[in-house]
Amino acid sequence: MRDPSKMTESRPARGPRATDLTRAAGGAPTLHELSSATDAPDTPSPPTDNPAAGMPPAHWAAEDGSAQLWLGDQAEIFKRLADESVDCIWTDPPYFLSNDGSTCRSGRRDSVNKGAWDRSRGQVADDAFTEAWLTECRRVLKPHGSIWVSGTLHGYLLVGGWLQRLGFRLLNDIIWEKPNPPPNLGCRCFTHATEIVFWAVKPDARGQTRHVFHYAAMRTANGGRQMKNVWRLLTAGAGERRHGRHPTQKPLALVERALLASTDPGALVLDPFVGSGTTGVAAIATGRRFIGIEQDPGYAAIAGLRLAEAVGARDAGTPEPPAVAAAPTAVRATRPRKRKTP
Ligand SMILES: C[S@@+](CC[C@H](N)C(=O)[O-])C[C@H]1O[C@@H](n2cnc3c(N)ncnc32)[C@H](O)[C@@H]1O
Repeated sequence: MRDPSKMTESRPARGPRATDLTRAAGGAPTLHELSSATDAPDTPSPPTDNPAAGMPPAHWAAEDGSAQLWLGDQAEIFKRLADESVDCIWTDPPYFLSNDGSTCRSGRRDSVNKGAWDRSRGQVADDAFTEAWLTECRRVLKPHGSIWVSGTLHGYLLVGGWLQRLGFRLLNDIIWEKPNPPPNLGCRCFTHATEIVFWAVKPDARGQTRHVFHYAAMRTANGGRQMKNVWRLLTAGAGERRHGRHPTQKPLALVERALLASTDPGALVLDPFVGSGTTGVAAIATGRRFIGIEQDPGYAAIAGLRLAEAVGARDAGTPEPPAVAAAPTAVRATRPRKRKTP
């Protein structure tokens, strides 16, 4: 196996291009990428073109177009997004775990139900839903782009299967370990204290993958040792929930670490299941750009407030410090050609 610590720091990863996000085939409506071309990944240029061209009005958008949120069904909004137009996807789809069971919340028995959006519609329908949105993710993701998908036992088997069948290259299963899980009230199985976040990459037309991995930054952030795929992080605290409650809100630190590891500054990040907007806030706080989709007006309102606050802090030069420091250069990790078998 190739020792990652011996990987050479290759040329800096390519910065965002002023790519036209118009769908190549079919002449469907357009969405233009936000940034102008740059080869300097650490000095992202401000966006120059109109990202909302051809799209229905955004529910919320930053004045400079660096972050936008659409209210609606992801299946419909996806149709407006051009092939190979986003650098990274970080998303947290429905878990299908709202099965009328109970959990413990703040020391009290409570329903596990999150909402109608989280109900299983049966194995066949859940499978078709997962195939459909992951197929769209693959279409809009640039070659070598990263996709991160979080989930619990109820949904990650489906997601993992479709990531493989759709030809993504799986890089890691990040185990997010929660030090503060709710107790298991039934006492008939172990307390659920983890979620899985798959990290996969889209190969190019020749089946090659040269994804961004800020290896050195992750090692530095881990006290000089290689960072493991077990990330022990608290769930989102009251501060992160100050604009309203979402039942499955992810902690900012989880998403920030993933974006800092797998994208360059200025990268365009998509989340088709926005919820309270954690992916967008993490993207803005780390100097990336964001487009997101949420179908629930209440959650979209919370996300809009959080995004506006993050953009305000960024523009005032007082963004919340990300959980992991950004690296000056990227390592382009390539699959080793030959492997010695022991
Ligand atoms: C698991 S939650 C995401 C939580 C988010 N990661 C956060 O930190 O707040 C999934 C979200 O997807 C939304 N959703 C479900 N189906 C959708 C669809 N077809 N189109 C758009 N949004 C959808 C739900 O309303 C819910 O807010």
